[in-house]
Amino acid sequence: MSRHRSIPIEQTGRANRIPRRRPSQPSRETSKLNPVNVLVIGGGGREHAICWKLRQSPLLTDLFVSPGNAGTASLGCNLPILPEDHKGIVQAAKDHRVDLVIIGPEKPLVQGLADLLNKEGIPALGPCEKAAVLEGSKAFAKNLCERHDINHARGASFRNRADALNYAGELSTPPVVKADGLAAGKGVFVCDSQEEARAAIQAMMDDDLLGIAGHTVVLEERLSGRELSAFSISDGRSIVHLASACDYKRIREGNDGPNTGGMGSYSPPAWTSPKFNSSVSDIQKCVIESMASEGRPYQGILFSGLMADGEEPKVLEFNCRLGDPETQVILPRLKSDLLEIIWATVNTRLNEIDIEWSSEACVGIVLASGGYPGDYRTGYPIIGLESVDEDALVFHSGTAQTESGIPVTSGGRVLSIVGTGTTLASARAKAYRNVQRIHFTGIQYRRDIAAPSEEARID
Ligand code: AMP
Ligand code: GLY
Repeated sequence: MSRHRSIPIEQTGRANRIPRRRPSQPSRETSKLNPVNVLVIGGGGREHAICWKLRQSPLLTDLFVSPGNAGTASLGCNLPILPEDHKGIVQAAKDHRVDLVIIGPEKPLVQGLADLLNKEGIPALGPCEKAAVLEGSKAFAKNLCERHDINHARGASFRNRADALNYAGELSTPPVVKADGLAAGKGVFVCDSQEEARAAIQAMMDDDLLGIAGHTVVLEERLSGRELSAFSISDGRSIVHLASACDYKRIREGNDGPNTGGMGSYSPPAWTSPKFNSSVSDIQKCVIESMASEGRPYQGILFSGLMADGEEPKVLEFNCRLGDPETQVILPRLKSDLLEIIWATVNTRLNEIDIEWSSEACVGIVLASGGYPGDYRTGYPIIGLESVDEDALVFHSGTAQTESGIPVTSGGRVLSIVGTGTTLASARAKAYRNVQRIHFTGIQYRRDIAAPSEEARID
């Protein structure tokens, strides 16, 4: 078991005057003792895992999920409101006397849902629009790293197509081409040739492939190495590092094929050295401090996508929320009360909290619809959920229920099957044993998640 303590943030300049964001909050004592109603925004595996963990808290009374999925329906009340419908969410929070909103996906954060809720006096976990730009603009993130000397994949951003093409053409190796804005996992092109890089730039800047998200592009040096998803939580005044995980982005085994939202994950990564972990913590702290020093106090989850370049982690991207499918393997390892942690965060008293983690390993396999991440069909019955072992976990993503209560596929990523164990190998065996009991038409999954080679150290 490990215990993570909060670290105070060194604030400079304007950040010393971080405003109290929620004048209508209950007092500390009240906030600590009273059970609360919670609304979770989102409908993926991440949100199902959050709801599952919240349900273990004695501090939870009613749980609402908007829009949720067939899995969250068994833990709380699904509300048919989409994350983009900010007014609808605020109204639902008022109607259901919600004390806390947990915003799962990036889009509503980047579009200012946390600001709107806070204005209405409803505490919300997640950065305000001004801080969520860290995920909303890759150009901003890259410039922040430059300004504050945060180790990252070097590159430059362009609004002009000719400048982007010239820059790419002058590089000795083809760059990674990224859309500046949110692109639901479709905005990164890891190019093998200059032709591919040129085509990616033209598709985004000339052919409007990703709409406004691709009108500015970031060109970046291509790194190679293992990837790590690092998570921390901050209330704007202090930061606590959470568990890390490894995600598998490509659709096919051996990290082949197009990128997806993530096809599986495991935690903890045994291959990171203490020196590497310490550099990761330094990056996380530096990002929160840098945001504060630029007048963008950051409250919520900071998720850095990092690549191990030798002993050094380098930033590939920042996200302002928990990962999917990383959450599904991190939260089963959390021994502390998630609701208490989040409540402390939105009340700016994270410094009073210790977070305990189990040393158990956790492996999650994503079951996806045939054709994903391209076009796929939905509505296929999901068979075998009742035959999963009691000690394995099933988190729903793209699932719905028919009127007669039959679970059916409704999205690209459908389920995460999660096994825990004293070793990565036993957790993995449990996860795959249970994967084999589930079926739906077109099912696809990777068979190499947390394969034995993952345990080798990088040093
Ligand atoms: P991102 O959304 O920026 O994390 O990129 C998605 C995926 O593309 C990452 O998880 C990496 O696998 C890959 N990628 C992104 N940036 C780079 C880079 N500079 N070098 C190599 N691979 C990258
Ligand atoms: N699994 C990567 C992400 O959530 O962005």
